[in-house]
Parts: sequence; C-alpha cells; structure tokens
Amino acid sequence: MTERLDKTPVLIVDDDPSMRAALRQWIRLAGFATQEVATADQAMAKLSSDFSGCIVSDVMLEGEDGVSLLRRIGDLDGDLPVVLITGHGDVPMAVEAMRAGAYDFVEKPFDPDHIAEVVRRACDRRSLVLENRALKTRLSDSAGLESRLIGSSPAMQTLRRQILHFATTDAAVLITGETGTGKEVIAQALHDFSHRKDGPFAAINAAALPESMVEAELFGHEAGAFTGADRLRIGRIEAASTGVLFLDEIVSMPLGLQPKLLRVLQEKKVDRIGATRPVDVDVRLISAANMDPKEAVRTGRLREDLLFRLNTIELTVPPLRERGRDSLLLFDTFLNRFAVQYSMVAPVTSARDEAFLQTYSWPGNVRELRNAAERFVLNAGVSPQPLETLVTGRQGAGTVPAAGGLKELMDTYERSLIEGALRRHGGHMAEVMRELNLPRRTLNEKMARLGLSRDPDGSAEPVDRQEKS
Ligand SMILES: Nc1ncnc2c1ncn2[C@@H]1O[C@H](COP(=O)(O)OP(=O)(O)OP(=O)(O)O)[C@@H](O)[C@H]1O
Ligand SMILES: [Mg+2]
Repeated sequence: MTERLDKTPVLIVDDDPSMRAALRQWIRLAGFATQEVATADQAMAKLSSDFSGCIVSDVMLEGEDGVSLLRRIGDLDGDLPVVLITGHGDVPMAVEAMRAGAYDFVEKPFDPDHIAEVVRRACDRRSLVLENRALKTRLSDSAGLESRLIGSSPAMQTLRRQILHFATTDAAVLITGETGTGKEVIAQALHDFSHRKDGPFAAINAAALPESMVEAELFGHEAGAFTGADRLRIGRIEAASTGVLFLDEIVSMPLGLQPKLLRVLQEKKVDRIGATRPVDVDVRLISAANMDPKEAVRTGRLREDLLFRLNTIELTVPPLRERGRDSLLLFDTFLNRFAVQYSMVAPVTSARDEAFLQTYSWPGNVRELRNAAERFVLNAGVSPQPLETLVTGRQGAGTVPAAGGLKELMDTYERSLIEGALRRHGGHMAEVMRELNLPRRTLNEKMARLGLSRDPDGSAEPVDRQEKS
C-alpha cells in the first residue's frame, strides 16, 4: 500500500519484526504514514531537522538502547518528539528516558488506542514547532528585506510582500522600472529569499556586451565550434543551474538570439554553440527592463512570445518621485551608512534640504539619491552646501531660504512642489493642475505670487492664462 504524501510520518524503530508490524498496524489505522527501521543508525539516516512527524522507538534496541538514540535525536533537533516503548517493569529506564527528553513513554503490552493518542499529541506538538519556526524565518526574512529594499510607502511595502511571496516559486519574473529604481536589488532578493539561495545568481546584461559575444557568453560553446573556440566553454545559463539567471535590460537582447532563449525557457535545455545534444539546465529566470517591454514588442525589438515567457509575474517599481516620503527615509539611511563608511559624523539636513528631497524629480532615482548622500557626507566637513546646490549645481537658485519662519518655509515647499510638477509635465498646465488637484485660477495665482513660470528653468515670464487643453 502506498501512503498519501500529505499524511504525517511516524518513524518506528524496533529490532523485533513482529513488534514493528503491530505498531505499524495501529499507527496507520490512526491515520499516519509509517516508516520502519531496526537500528538507531538506520533511524538517524531517516531523520532531519525538518522531519514533520514523531518517532516511536523501543527502549531496548540491539547494539544501542533507546535512551542513547534519544540523545542523538536531541542533538539533531531538540524538538523532535520521541515516544519510547518500555518493557513491563522498566520503570527506572522510563524515568531516565523522560529526563533525557523523551516526549512520552508507553508500557508494553500497549493499548492501541493509547498509542494512537500519544502519537497524535506528539505529532501535533511537532507541527506547532515547525509552524513557529517557519513564522520566525519569515519574520526575520522580511526584516532583512526591509533594510535592503528601504521604503515605507505603500508601493514599497507591497513590493516587499510580493518578493517574499514569489521568492518561494520558480515562476519567471520581469521587473520593470526606470533606471536606478532598484531592479537589481529586487532580483537579488528574489534569489536570496528562495530555496535557490545557495545556488548561483548569474547576472548578464546584453546591452553591456558586443552583440557578437552575447551568444557564446549565454549559451557557451564546444571546443572547435568556431575559429578561436579552442576549448569547451560553459555559458552563463548553464553555469546558473540550480540558481537564478538574471537577464538585465532584456530589451537589448539581440533579436536573433531571442528564439534560442525562448527554447531554454520552454524546454529547460541549452544548446551550446556547435553541440549536437542539448544540456539540461535548472534555472529560475528573472529579467529586467527600464523601458516598457510592450512598447519594445510594438517596435519589433522584443519577440512577443519571449515576453509572454518572461512576464509570468511582472513587478513594477515606481520611480522615486512617486514614493512620497521614502526619499527622506532613504537619504537618512544612506547618510548614516556613508558616515560610518568614511568615519565621519552624519551631517544634519535642513528643512530646505528636506523640501528639496521631496520635490526634486530624481531622474536617476535611488542611485542618484545615494550618490547625493555620499557627496553630502564627504562635503559636510569642508564646504557644506545645500543639497539642492550639490545635486543640481544651481547656486542656491534663490528658491529656498536658508532660514526663515513658517511662512517662508511653506512658500519654499509650495514653490518646489509646483516647480517639480511643471518640470515633470514639461510646463503642460492641464497635467500640473491634475497632479496637484488645483483649479487653474489658484494655480496661476500661486505661480504669480511665487514668481514661477511655465518653463521651470526660464525667467519668471507671465503665466499664459489663455492656454486651452
Ligand atoms: N529601495 C532601496 N533601498 C536601498 N537601496 C536601494 C533601493 N533601491 C535601489 N537601491 C540602491 O540604488 C542603487 C541602484 O539600484 P539598482 O542597481 O538595483 O537599480 P536598477 O533599477 O537595476 O538600475 P538600472 O536600470 O540603471 O540598472 C544601488 O546602489 C542599490 O543598492
Ligand atoms: Mg540594473
């Protein structure tokens, strides 16, 4: 009879075949799957710290007694429940066994209902222990992820949840987002929080390689496959086996190679250049794009069938300017990290710097912000400057007062918000109104009061009140 896989296993350890048969019968009747062995060594070979059931062992085993087996199991995993079967009148032994950490003991001749009851309790205890452990791992995982993928905006919280959830699967993931938004951080996290974490994380960026080299780099080649290929070469895909293959900037993958890549994904086989037989590979594929991949399909740069294989799961990383106060949190974290790295004191940011952090458009996203934090730390000791000057090169720009009352600060904040929106929408007033949720008249009045023009870098020319859109 084959056991259903979802039944909890009970390992029976007894050197007497007739005892094993009796235990098997009662324990199976109680709804468990059984495994049987005759010696302590065989028992140890069957057990691991993720064994999900309990052990029922005779206290007298050939060569080794049940109590010493109990100690060995305890060394493997102190929470594995062991039920010992003792002979009639073996009370001192039973007492010793309980002291050594046995879950319970049952005296021979045993009552089948009693055995079933004890086994059930032991297995319940075990499943509780394993559940708690899994919960703890999940919690510490998510804590680890929070310091790698920083951000408390709803979008980042959702992303972290998605990463932990999808990390446990082997489904292909496509990560899209502007440059510097953290796509590689996410790909690495999907690897590190998965069962493939001990396998390789092989990243390849087709855009960074000459097109002629991409094929050999990805697929490898046999010795003598082409001029110059004097030795066998294992490609990146094959080398990533048991781990993750990260295809960065997938849109730059040469069109001619895309069908070959598709075959890898569909058949889990790689054809080295010049090989007569394919090689099996076991990789999880993660890819990234900083332009809309559907647009790349429309313009003929990406094959649609390949895209459908890549984007089983699609994760979209929002640009930094859409993450609310995350820029403050990230900047503060980077300041402290760089201060430690350079053994310097972390400089204090002014209200003016904070207003800038939240309103600048950060076209280079987190990468740009991180560089700014590094320079801010390094400059602080010699020639401290407002962050805005450091990032944009604009000398103070006259927009943000170095100090001032609430009114000045509010104006500054308002000005930088409107300025940011104008810049983002290229001076398109209807878009600015929509983003800031302001009627045209209010927006015009504010712009006039704050000396802002539709062209954010130009001089304060009069605002066009006639614009139709
Ligand atoms: N949420 C975040 N928390 C902490 N660091 C981050 C975060 N997002 C990005 N970074 C850091 O910002 C830098 C850029 O991130 P990453 O290389 O992952 O971006 P990318 O999206 O792959 O950019 P590109 O498209 O240019 O390749 C890295 O130094 C990374 O560690
Ligand atoms: Mg990248």
